[in-house]
Amino acid sequence: MSEGLVTAAYIVAAILFIFSLAGLSKHETSRQGNIFGVTGMAIALIATILGPDTGHVGWIIVAMLIGGAIGIHLARKVEMTEMPELVAVLHSFVGLAAVLVGFNSYLDHGSAPMMPVMENIHLTEVFLGIFIGAVTFTGSIVAFGKLRGKISSKPLMLPNRHKLNLAALVVSAMMLIIFVRTDSAGWQAFALLVMTVIALAFGWHLVASIGGADMPVVVSMLNSYSGWAAAAAGFMLSNDLLIVTGALVGSSGAILSYIMCKAMNRSFISVIAGGFGTDGSSTGDAEEMGDYRETTAEEVAELLKNSTSVIITPGYGMAVAQAQYPVHDITAKLRARGIKVRFGIHPVAGRLPGHMNVLLAEAKVPYDIVLEMDEINDDFSDTDTVLVIGANDTVNPAAQDDPRSPIAGMPVLEVWKAQNVIVFKRSMNTGYAGVQNPLFFKENTQMLFGDAKESVDNILRAL
Ligand code: TAP
Repeated sequence: MSEGLVTAAYIVAAILFIFSLAGLSKHETSRQGNIFGVTGMAIALIATILGPDTGHVGWIIVAMLIGGAIGIHLARKVEMTEMPELVAVLHSFVGLAAVLVGFNSYLDHGSAPMMPVMENIHLTEVFLGIFIGAVTFTGSIVAFGKLRGKISSKPLMLPNRHKLNLAALVVSAMMLIIFVRTDSAGWQAFALLVMTVIALAFGWHLVASIGGADMPVVVSMLNSYSGWAAAAAGFMLSNDLLIVTGALVGSSGAILSYIMCKAMNRSFISVIAGGFGTDGSSTGDAEEMGDYRETTAEEVAELLKNSTSVIITPGYGMAVAQAQYPVHDITAKLRARGIKVRFGIHPVAGRLPGHMNVLLAEAKVPYDIVLEMDEINDDFSDTDTVLVIGANDTVNPAAQDDPRSPIAGMPVLEVWKAQNVIVFKRSMNTGYAGVQNPLFFKENTQMLFGDAKESVDNILRAL
């Protein structure tokens, strides 16, 4: 394939990636968006492999077959609830790839001597690429550990943590100056290695010091970092498409992080500087909150039959139980009786952006009754019954009432304003943020204990 043809293929692929992002921004067009993305990536791979600069095609194909087989196996095996962990691991691969490309690019200067200015630019690219890649690599591994429950979701509170972060950045900047300025290969290697160790520790610390409730922002932030790491690798490899794609991922991840921060009423800088709201010491004590009432599926069915308006607020537990299908059936049954049923979706319900929307779309719940938190929050006071299906942190009034709570300030679905609230869960355990929920102890709340799918199935039968 000639250079010109490769460039043309890269432009087509870049345009397809932009269409892909545009498609993914709406439910109705998301499938099409995915197809654009896959097609763009196929064109990019073929053009790169057949391009004039590529050798050892046989090895590349062997590596792709092995990687592809692992990818297909993982994609088939992974549960929807494990998706954020998978995404976090994949981000760590991008980070590691950028580190390896950086070292490779440093060791293999190429045969032609470079002009001093170009040499400086090249060295800076290498340095920044390795720095971003190393931060992304360890940060994503910690995020994976936290999401999987292997690392405590409590924030790590090292003394002087902000000063430590600042010192890491200052020393890295000094290493950059040494790396670019020195003529000694020994000093250069020293500066690069010191920075790599610092960046690995910095990435680890950055994510370890962020508390559970802020994990959504961390995941999207690492998404953004992985994009910048890929763009840095693109500069080192002089691959224009990798630069464009990395910049698309980096900036869309940054926009997503900003949206998540707004949704959680967090300052982006505070979150990335290590744990906003983590000084919050009050996680609530169930014993102090009083008594709670239990109910049965039959009673809930009766309550629903006598309601004129119902709102369902799903959360992570609906995903675990895979309750979206019977939830769809209940919705259809109630609507057939003339009852107004709507869904209220919190921006960080579940474990990944849009988690609940994906599940409800999968079960074919009509889009027009699935509303965002801001669209529905004022309507709870006019609602007869709210079904809180596997949600906890996203419906916790402590976010508004207890300034010492770790989730203080986070906007929540104000379900307690409805006449009746039914909470579907298996126990009195806390949600992801580890905060007890005063909602469960309110007078208008009743607990329906058990697996959410079984509970909804039982209600369906009783209806
Ligand atoms: P959570 O606060 O995580 O609570 C989920 C509840 O579901 C738990 O209280 C659990 O109680 C219940 N549950 C689990 N399995 C169940 C089952 N099979 N049947 C019935 N109930 C079950 O959920 P949420 O309200 O969706 O909040 C999401 C949390 O995750 C927030 O803190 C958010 O910050 C965080 N987070 C979100 C994201 C994104 S991007 N969405 C990413 C990372 C973290 P039992 O154990 O008693 O059943």
